[in-house]
Amino acid sequence: MIKYLMKLKEDAILKIKESLDLQTLEAIRVFYLSKKGEVSLMMGKLRDLPQEERPTFGQKVNEIKQQIENAIYEKKQALENAALLKTLENEKIDVTLPGYQFYQGSVHPLNQVIEDVEDLFVGLGYEVADGPELENDHYNFEMMNLAKDHPARAMHDSFYTSENMLLRTHTSPVQARAMLEKKGKPLRIICPGKVYRRDDDDPTHSHQFIQIEGLVIEKGLSFANLKDALLKMVKHLFGEERDIRLRPSYFPFTEPSVEVDISYIKKDGTVGYIEVLGAGQVHPDVLKMGGYDPEVYQGFAFGIGVERIAILKYNIDDIRHFYTNDLRFLGQFKGVNK
Ligand code: FA5
Repeated sequence: MIKYLMKLKEDAILKIKESLDLQTLEAIRVFYLSKKGEVSLMMGKLRDLPQEERPTFGQKVNEIKQQIENAIYEKKQALENAALLKTLENEKIDVTLPGYQFYQGSVHPLNQVIEDVEDLFVGLGYEVADGPELENDHYNFEMMNLAKDHPARAMHDSFYTSENMLLRTHTSPVQARAMLEKKGKPLRIICPGKVYRRDDDDPTHSHQFIQIEGLVIEKGLSFANLKDALLKMVKHLFGEERDIRLRPSYFPFTEPSVEVDISYIKKDGTVGYIEVLGAGQVHPDVLKMGGYDPEVYQGFAFGIGVERIAILKYNIDDIRHFYTNDLRFLGQFKGVNK
């Protein structure tokens, strides 16, 4: 009996030693130490022994039980430590590795100009308006005083998608929409947005470009108010010193009309001018179509070429740079204006 007991212990200790995980160890514990386990069974055998052998045998069984328990406890500790070390090893962070390079973007230079112009005019009480890029001929031309057969339509070589729909050639149709929406009440809006013309691309022209429309309708407005708004904008964008030139011009929707040029230093060192916007006092017929009595209300309007402003502000030699998405070009505008 004692021999069997010793063999039982040796087997148990060997199995415990060789167990590789906690699950196996638990199975060994159940096999030997649970109520119906091998060691408990040995206790049961006590009854079959002669009275005088019982104490020694009982003591031996208890000793073996204790030894198996200790071995399981120690092995459990060892397995748990090994698992912890493995986790630590897997989650080890090498603080000497170089960090990830995150590319930090920047606001596109054209958006910087738009934000800059919006900042100024919102501060002067203008609302920012919006309109569709796919526009109805009625708003793009007719409500801007360009009837179907008007010769000035030739100035806007347009992309038509159907007989009456076209990609807007300027942001001026937003004037018509804003007037109808305000139903004869005074208004001050600016509207930045994309416009499209069948112009040939060159360093200062693009077939798709951005304009910012401005429109004010109030009582008692004069050309002086328009000039004041334009000068404020040029000074805000370029500083006090920049020279501007107002040239008489013609737009069917304004009377009188002007074009505004801004000075720049050419590559050869001489001074040149680049046209940046068209403007004028709103034509009485346009006011009437928009629901205003021209005897009571006057208006002025302007349409700024955003790329042209950016060309001058950032000294860019070709409008096409704005649209090719070359990160070496765009990266130069990080932090400008901010
Ligand atoms: C107009 O589009 C008028 N709607 C502007 C206006 C609004 C006048 C309100 C009066 C009252 P114009 O065609 O001149 O006007 O264009 C205005 C500006 O857009 C120009 O001064 C120029 O800065 C810019 N522009 C015109 N064509 C191009 C082009 N192909 N590429 C880049 N910018 C352009």
